Amino acid sequence: MLSGFSHENIPAPGTFLCNLEDLPDPGSKGFVFGEGMNRFDLFVVRAGSEIRAYVNVCPHMGTPLEFLPDRFLTADQKRILCATHGAQFRILDGLCVFGPCKGQSLTTLALNTESGAVVMG
Ligand code: FES
Repeated sequence: MLSGFSHENIPAPGTFLCNLEDLPDPGSKGFVFGEGMNRFDLFVVRAGSEIRAYVNVCPHMGTPLEFLPDRFLTADQKRILCATHGAQFRILDGLCVFGPCKGQSLTTLALNTESGAVVMG
């Protein structure tokens, strides 16, 4: 069981997120399911053939990572960035390697790519 956020609106396995061609490389995209207190935020990051999904909650303060829609990466596109206090996370495993929550990790979500579509795993 994932912790630290509402589970009511976690999308079910197989839920369509986007077409692979709509995901910039490198790049990122945010998704929201539900509203209010039960809203569930996640984001997907792409680096070449590697695609990962994480819960959009920074382990430092529990806030969403991005200031601008779909902007989850550092300027050089090599790490995930929390815009609040500048924590940086590795794209492939979500480990924080710089900033106030160094050593902690984003929460990974299972993901699949099927026939050019990115779906929940
Ligand atoms: S809330 Fe993300 S670094 Fe502080």
